[in-house]
Amino acid sequence: MADELAPWVAVHPFRELLRALHLRALDAVGRRREALDSYRELRKRMVDELGIEPGPEVVAAHQAILEQAPVRVRTNLPASVSALVGRDDARDTVRRLLETSRLVTLTGPGGVGKTALALETARQLEFPDGCWWVEWAAVERDAPEAVLVDVVLAALDIRSGSLDDVLRSRLLVLDNCEHVIESAAHLIARLLAVAPDVRVLATSREPLGIAGERVWAVPPLPESSAMELFVARATAAAPEFSLNADDEPTLAAICQRLEALRWRWSWPPLGCGPWGSPSWPPGWIRFSPWPTENGTCRRGSGRFGR
Ligand SMILES: Nc1ncnc2c1ncn2[C@@H]1O[C@H](COP(=O)(O)OP(=O)(O)O)[C@@H](O)[C@H]1O
Ligand SMILES: [Mg+2]
Repeated sequence: MADELAPWVAVHPFRELLRALHLRALDAVGRRREALDSYRELRKRMVDELGIEPGPEVVAAHQAILEQAPVRVRTNLPASVSALVGRDDARDTVRRLLETSRLVTLTGPGGVGKTALALETARQLEFPDGCWWVEWAAVERDAPEAVLVDVVLAALDIRSGSLDDVLRSRLLVLDNCEHVIESAAHLIARLLAVAPDVRVLATSREPLGIAGERVWAVPPLPESSAMELFVARATAAAPEFSLNADDEPTLAAICQRLEALRWRWSWPPLGCGPWGSPSWPPGWIRFSPWPTENGTCRRGSGRFGR
């Protein structure tokens, strides 16, 4: 109803009953900010152009919206528990990718830092209708799309109206897509099609494989940052810990070995058959700790590495 009334409001901006109806309709589907903006715009125009204040119907509709509840929080991003070490360049890269692509997927094996990077990137972004964090880790494997939709609606705190109606101009950060990849891919493709101002930052061990996806394989932390993180975590666990110059080569070796371990044990490329089988891409084990795909990648295609 809100969208049906909008063209009439545009043609008859000073019809106050119509405007009051529109304000209430917008509010009813969770578009409260638009309703408040619409009232502000009407009031300004009436004062500027007609020299009068809005009448009682519009004022009552506006007042009812204000009295309902506090203005909706513009984000539900979780507070940070510890500072992100390094990753300034990675954050800039992801931010730039989001400027040109409506869907950016951060890929890489578990523990490489996809979630941490997505969160810190989203914290620095501003969208008219906010940045919203949707966590799919707790959803059971291969859950159907309807379950994912419920999780998104709950994260956005939307109790009425369909998802398509209320998305508007938001950034959705969809964390942990890998275990619901088929449903997630289908849902995201649908959201991008119906909500042209929505952008999605997804984290997943594998690409979603949908049109327009920009895949960015999160690289391992550079050694100096890995060492810094090690020291930060060690100090948190044992406050008496301190790193002296003699320990540095040992710590560097530990970081290198941890990296090498992840290299060996990292997530195998899907669709490439069992570990080490001939269908694995050449160089996977020797040169590439995880996919370094730079563009759209179809799931299961085996096009990994360079
Ligand atoms: N750059 C970083 N600085 C500080 N902590 C990090 C960094 N990258 C990852 N972590 C931490 O390492 C752990 C694993 O990272 P996470 O983002 O959950 O990995 P992934 O999502 O790829 O599985 C988390 O506790 C996260 O907070
Ligand atoms: Mg994660």
